[in-house]
Amino acid sequence: MLRGIYPGSFDPITYGHLDIIKRAAKFVDHLTVGVLHNPAKRPLFSVEERVEMIRQSIKDIPNVSVEAFSGLSVMFAKQKNATVIVRGLRAVTDFEYELQMAQTNRVLSEGIDTLFLTTALDYAYLSSTNVREVACFQGDISKFVPPFVEKKIKEKYS
Ligand code: PNS
Repeated sequence: MLRGIYPGSFDPITYGHLDIIKRAAKFVDHLTVGVLHNPAKRPLFSVEERVEMIRQSIKDIPNVSVEAFSGLSVMFAKQKNATVIVRGLRAVTDFEYELQMAQTNRVLSEGIDTLFLTTALDYAYLSSTNVREVACFQGDISKFVPPFVEKKIKEKYS
């Protein structure tokens, strides 16, 4: 059984993340979306809120689950018996950081490989940071996130 993890901050989950999740779910038998709990950062949404929004977003995909984790992604992968780490690549600007991270992870744990999926063109520009910024200034984010996520963000900024 091939298991993968898709780690990230997901603050909040966007249609870009969802596209990666749906496509990655076809490559592995089971995919666990891992929401990083990073005490050093001050996210808009708590880790519980982020997990819940993802849970709603993936409810129709049978082989995908979500949970929070802290520490290293490779440790989380091992915990899940996963040998694949999924990451999305939007543009060349992502590449250097992602390459470094994948190589570091490979040194940390030889048995784990990073699988990069290029983001769908429709979402190549999209980031959680931009979604938060647009929402903060009351812009329309309906093209970026599912409706229940949009509602949650509006509540935060109201
Ligand atoms: O959505 P993001 O913020 O781009 O995700 C980054 C994430 C969470 C995948 C990355 O920061 C991560 O894996 N953090 C956990 C610590 C770790 O394993 N770092 C990689 C070795 S340097």
